[in-house]
Amino acid sequence: MAEGSGLFVSFEGGEGAGKSTQIRLLADSLSSRGHEVLITREPGGSAGAEAVRHVLLSGAAEEFGTRMEAILFAAARSDHVEQVIRPALDKGVVVLCDRFMDSSRVYQGVTGNLDADFIETLVRIAVNGTYPSRTIILDIPAEIGLKRARVRAGSDTAEPDRFEKEKTETHEKRREAFLDIAAAEPERCKVIDATQAQGVIAGEVLAAVEPLLGTVPADRHKEPEAAQ
Ligand SMILES: Nc1ncnc2c1ncn2[C@@H]1O[C@H](COP(=O)(O)OP(=O)(O)OP(=O)(O)O)[C@@H](O)[C@H]1O
Ligand SMILES: [Mg+2]
Repeated sequence: MAEGSGLFVSFEGGEGAGKSTQIRLLADSLSSRGHEVLITREPGGSAGAEAVRHVLLSGAAEEFGTRMEAILFAAARSDHVEQVIRPALDKGVVVLCDRFMDSSRVYQGVTGNLDADFIETLVRIAVNGTYPSRTIILDIPAEIGLKRARVRAGSDTAEPDRFEKEKTETHEKRREAFLDIAAAEPERCKVIDATQAQGVIAGEVLAAVEPLLGTVPADRHKEPEAAQ
């Protein structure tokens, strides 16, 4: 489990499942309760990891194979954990991370056809003891998630990145792989039906995190008491 006095929550699921949306909603609820919240993402989240993110998402590493990509993801994660996540947890912050180790298991492991032992070794090295205490898995049929992601992409000119271009079938396989992880680690992982309305999902996300907030500091960002 995560070290220190903060709380480490990761969000997983396919493209367009609503991870970024739900992270923002949870951050708002927790901040209004006085918690200090850090939103971060993978690949990226620290200066070193953001540099690697560009290489990964541009597809520049693709020609070197999934093994190379997996090692780059691990390098980025290691920097992110050491530079950002663990120091924040040590200060009592609630860290909300958009994708973490389960995405490596699913994207590089299952659909990248890499050996599970190889992925698990990389995960162990990169995470270095700082595991999420709770992982929210937003579950959505691939077609619905991809459609949402495409609609959203329509608002800007960004080309689909290396991972978004892959077929619905592959995305469906990933969905199953996330559900398998949840079944194997039911204490850590909570699966939420991401086809529901945003507010309904937000309520379920909060309910999944609330029981773990007991000892997390909640005295930050509060409005000063009104003077009598
Ligand atoms: N519950 C919902 N119902 C309908 N649309 C939603 C819901 N949640 C999010 N959306 C919309 O779907 C799109 C994708 O949501 P979001 O960006 O939060 O997903 P994501 O999981 O972060 O995707 P990505 O993996 O591509 O970053 C956005 O346009 C968002 O407004
Ligand atoms: Mg997102």
